[in-house]
Amino acid sequence: MCGIIGISAKADVSNDIMTCLKSLSYRGYDSAGMAMVGDGQISERKIKGKVSNLEDYIKNNPISGNCGIGHTRWATHGEPNTINAHPHTISKISIVHNGIIENYHELKTTLKDNGVNFISDTDTEIISQLINIELMNNKQPLDAFIHAISKLEGAYAIAAIFSDYNNLMIASKVGSPLVFMKSKNKTIISSDAYSIAEFGNNITYLEDGDIITSQNNKIHIFDRALNKIKRPSKRISKRTKDGLNGHEHFMMKEIKEQPDVLSYALSNYLDFTEFDIKENKFDFDFSNVERIIISACGTAYFAGMVAKYWLENIANIKVDLEIASEFRYKKMFFDEKSISLFISQSGETADTLAALKYAKQNKQRVISIVNAEESSISNESDLVLPIFAGQEIGVASTKAFTCQLATIASLVLYLGGLKGAITKEQKETYIQELMHIPSQILQSLEFEQTIKKISKDIYKSSSALFIGRGSTLPLAFEGALKLKEISYIHAEGIASGELKHGAIALVDKNLPVIVLAPDDLFYVKNLSNMNEVYARSGKITMIGKVDNEHLKGLAINGIDIDITGKFNIPIIMAVPLQLLAYHVAKLKNKDIDQPRNLAKSVTVE
Ligand code: G6P
Repeated sequence: MCGIIGISAKADVSNDIMTCLKSLSYRGYDSAGMAMVGDGQISERKIKGKVSNLEDYIKNNPISGNCGIGHTRWATHGEPNTINAHPHTISKISIVHNGIIENYHELKTTLKDNGVNFISDTDTEIISQLINIELMNNKQPLDAFIHAISKLEGAYAIAAIFSDYNNLMIASKVGSPLVFMKSKNKTIISSDAYSIAEFGNNITYLEDGDIITSQNNKIHIFDRALNKIKRPSKRISKRTKDGLNGHEHFMMKEIKEQPDVLSYALSNYLDFTEFDIKENKFDFDFSNVERIIISACGTAYFAGMVAKYWLENIANIKVDLEIASEFRYKKMFFDEKSISLFISQSGETADTLAALKYAKQNKQRVISIVNAEESSISNESDLVLPIFAGQEIGVASTKAFTCQLATIASLVLYLGGLKGAITKEQKETYIQELMHIPSQILQSLEFEQTIKKISKDIYKSSSALFIGRGSTLPLAFEGALKLKEISYIHAEGIASGELKHGAIALVDKNLPVIVLAPDDLFYVKNLSNMNEVYARSGKITMIGKVDNEHLKGLAINGIDIDITGKFNIPIIMAVPLQLLAYHVAKLKNKDIDQPRNLAKSVTVE
């Protein structure tokens, strides 16, 4: 995940920026840089690789100034190299950015048509170019900044410095996190409270659309409507210093990280400039593969269920799916036209590893989808597809699940293209849809207050059902797993069509039933099943395409997730289920990050 930092002070800030960059580096990154204003010009230093490389580089080529910005980059648009590293300086303006500019393609095309030359492949450079154009039209920095960002769609946190103003820093955020801290001598802004915790005890979280200016240590904050406002500051708790970044639990921190980590995971495999696949990431001979055998445990197994649905329906490849603890003892039908795919967050799950070894003993070629790249499962695999979720601490998996799905979606598109199951145009459309995932996740996170209220209807129940069809059937299982893992409420996921074959006997006025009904080809069928529950007085919460009509009639609660797209639906719909489990567990006062009897990495059988 990218991290941004900006400091304006009464003395040189280069050492402080370096300190913050080191603290940001836990987020994962592939290049780093900083820029400073001094003597009416901006000096920039950036380099591929570690912050320590940047530190060595700056030792030999020092820069200094009382105002500067810094960045750790997790490549999204454009390879991880020095040119694409931030800051991006164009003439009198330099910026750092975290997030993804979704209308980057349109903006870049228009700017190019107007004769603008681009230096890098990044979406970020668009922002520098837009601000530069405004400055050249004699706009003042704040006006230029406001004008430029009004053209952006997507998620971002941006900080800018200006060569003609040696102590001015302007920053803004939509979607991506941004905090600031002000002391007697300096103002610091950052993506991450944790990274600046050593500089003071009070921190302010900016809200979406906020713009902050800091000049000569005087700050002003404007809201989206450009009203001058104040945002409350908070004392940094020990937990922030421990990496919780203002959240009460790691699970919530990890849920909220999803727009960021997904944009990184997706852009590792997909080229959002050309709307194509980065084929070099799939360095494996798939030419004779006719069947894929998938195995995993827990949440990763449900990601495998979605993989089966996508691989069969989109890439036209037959899939067999087995729970790893069964796979390892079963007669499996391996042959030379099949390969085995293992999915694991930790890369260490004993059953998954044993299944992998069993497949290898049977001469299977093995692919793995893992979060921990340095792990036993990775080491044993012929091809490793990392999911780039960053460290996941909460036992209940959240961001790893959605990043597994993003990685699987990319693999499905690659294989679909290779096998001729999808056309180039279809592939482009799917990639365009996937590009919207981070902002769609942001929108679904906005349902948190509604979900808190829904949790009150559920937390006293002893049991709950989750129903879905097609790609949301695995989500019904995952939603039920999340709820039972952390709230200890018995929950079951069921295929909507199976309800009438048994589980409907459980339905009465006390049973919460969560119906997953997105705008897909099963919509009408799901509504019929919802009616069956309603007729037996079940307490329905509908997630998906929710019309007022449904709310007035059938469901007591609704979360309107208004999206389409075969890949997008299960990725986005996972988020309300995570939030629901979290808030139910919170109402029940359970140990959310370390639920009883569970472990994050299950290295025993
Ligand atoms: C444990 C965790 C689950 C996880 C499962 C598989 O049960 O509590 O969250 O889904 O293991 O773990 P893996 O690391 O292989 O994905």
